[in-house]
Amino acid sequence: MAKLMWSGRFKKQLDSTVNDFNSSLPFDSRMFAEDINGSVAHCHMLFKQGIISESDAELIENGLAGILSDIENGKLTFESDAEDIHMYIEEELTKRIGDAGKRLHTGRSRNDQVALDQRLYSINRIKGIRTMILNLHHTLVGRAKENLTTYMPGYTHLQRAQPITVAHHLSAYISMLERDVGRIDDAVRRACISPLGSGSMAGTTYPLDRESVAMELGLNGVTRNSMDGVADRDFAIELVGALSILMMHLSRFSEDIILWASQEFGFVELDDAYSTGSSIMPQKKNPDIAELTRGKTGRVFGDLIALLVIMKGLPMTYNKDMQEVQEALFDALDTLQSVLPPFTGMVQTMKFKEQRLLDAAKGGFSNATDLADYLVRKGLPFRDAHEVSGKLVSYCIERSIALDDVDITVLRGFSDLFEKDVYDAIAIRTCVENRNITGAPSPSAVEKELKQMEKFR
Ligand code: ARG
Repeated sequence: MAKLMWSGRFKKQLDSTVNDFNSSLPFDSRMFAEDINGSVAHCHMLFKQGIISESDAELIENGLAGILSDIENGKLTFESDAEDIHMYIEEELTKRIGDAGKRLHTGRSRNDQVALDQRLYSINRIKGIRTMILNLHHTLVGRAKENLTTYMPGYTHLQRAQPITVAHHLSAYISMLERDVGRIDDAVRRACISPLGSGSMAGTTYPLDRESVAMELGLNGVTRNSMDGVADRDFAIELVGALSILMMHLSRFSEDIILWASQEFGFVELDDAYSTGSSIMPQKKNPDIAELTRGKTGRVFGDLIALLVIMKGLPMTYNKDMQEVQEALFDALDTLQSVLPPFTGMVQTMKFKEQRLLDAAKGGFSNATDLADYLVRKGLPFRDAHEVSGKLVSYCIERSIALDDVDITVLRGFSDLFEKDVYDAIAIRTCVENRNITGAPSPSAVEKELKQMEKFR
C-alpha cells in the first residue's frame, strides 16, 4: 500500500479492510473533472495572492490539464488504493510534477474541497435533467394541443366525476412539471455558492481571495461561515427533494397510464416500442416503463430519506458520515436521467382511443352536475336540483341507461322545469365547453393556458 498523505502521526499501515471500507474512490471518482476544475481555480488564486510562485502555478495547471485529458481518454484509470478522488489526483499530480504538486493544497482542506466538488457536480448534472424535464413538458404541450376536444371522464376517488378533455388532463401534469423546474432552479441558486476557503472548518491564515475562485468557477458567491461551509449538504437534500417531488408526479402519471392501458379502461394504446410482452402469455402487452417509473420513485425517496437521516444527528462540522451523501445524491441524479427519456417517448407515442374515452365520459353520469346546473338556471335552488338529478341517476342505474337516454316525458315527471333543450345542456361537449373560466377544461380555456405553457423554458 502506498504511503498515506496523513501518515505523519501514524505508526502502522491501514488494515486492508479499513482501506476498502474508508475509500470513496469507487464512487467519488466520477467527480474528477469538478475536482480538477476546482483545483485549477484554487491554484490561479494562490498565485495571484502571492502564496505560490508562478512556475509552481504553471506546473500545477499543466499537470492537472494532463491528468484531466488522460482520464478522459482512458489512459489514466482509477485502479488505486487512494482514499478518495481528491487524494488520488493530488498523488498523481505530485508523481508527475514533484514538489509543486504538494503546494496545491495550501489553504485548502478536503472538507471544503469535497463540498465544492459536490456542488459543481450537482449543478452540472442537473442541467441535463432540467433539459429532459423540459422535453417532457413540451411533448405534453404538443399532445394536449392535439387533444383539445378529445373528451374523457375526469375522476375523483377513482369514480367518474365530470367530463373533461385529454388536453385538460395532460395540462395538469404540465403544471406539475413547471413547479418541478421552479424547485430545481431555486435549489441550484443556493448550490451555486463556493465553500472553498472554509478550510477544514475554521478558514485559513493564508490571504485567500475566495470571491475570485467562485467567479472563475461560475458561482455566484461564497459561503458566509467557514463551519457551515464544510458542514452543509442542504444543496444535495434540496435537489434530491425536488427530484423526489418530480418522481412523485411521474409516478402518479404512471399510475394513470397503467390504468388507462388496462383492458378495463382501454383509454390508451401504448406504442409497441414502449411496452413489453410476457414470456408465457402471448396476448400480453405490459406498461413496463410506467411501472418501472413508479417503482423507481420509491428508490429516489429512499435516497432523500438516506440524506436526511445521514445528516440529522451530525454535530458541527464535517463528519465522515457525510461521505455517504454522495451515493444517494448520485443515485437520484442517475435515476432521473434514466427515467425521463423513455417516459417521454412513451407519452409521445401513446394513442388515445377517442371513442372509448367519449363512451366512458357519457357512461358514468359525469353530466349529472350539469343536469342539476340546468335546473338551477331554470330557477330551482341548487340543493333541490342536486336531489332531482340524484333521483334521475338512480332511475337510470336501475335501467342501465344514461341520463341523455331518458325521455322528456319521464324527465318532466321528476321536475316540470325540464324542456327539450336539456339534451343539449347535458351533452358531453356542452358540459365541457360551458366550463370556460380560467383553469377549466373548455377547449378555449385550455388552449389559452397551453399558449402560456408553450413559452415555458
Ligand atoms: N472522501 C471524503 C468525503 O467524501 C472527503 C473528505 C475527507 N475529509 C476528512 N477530513 N477525512 O467526505
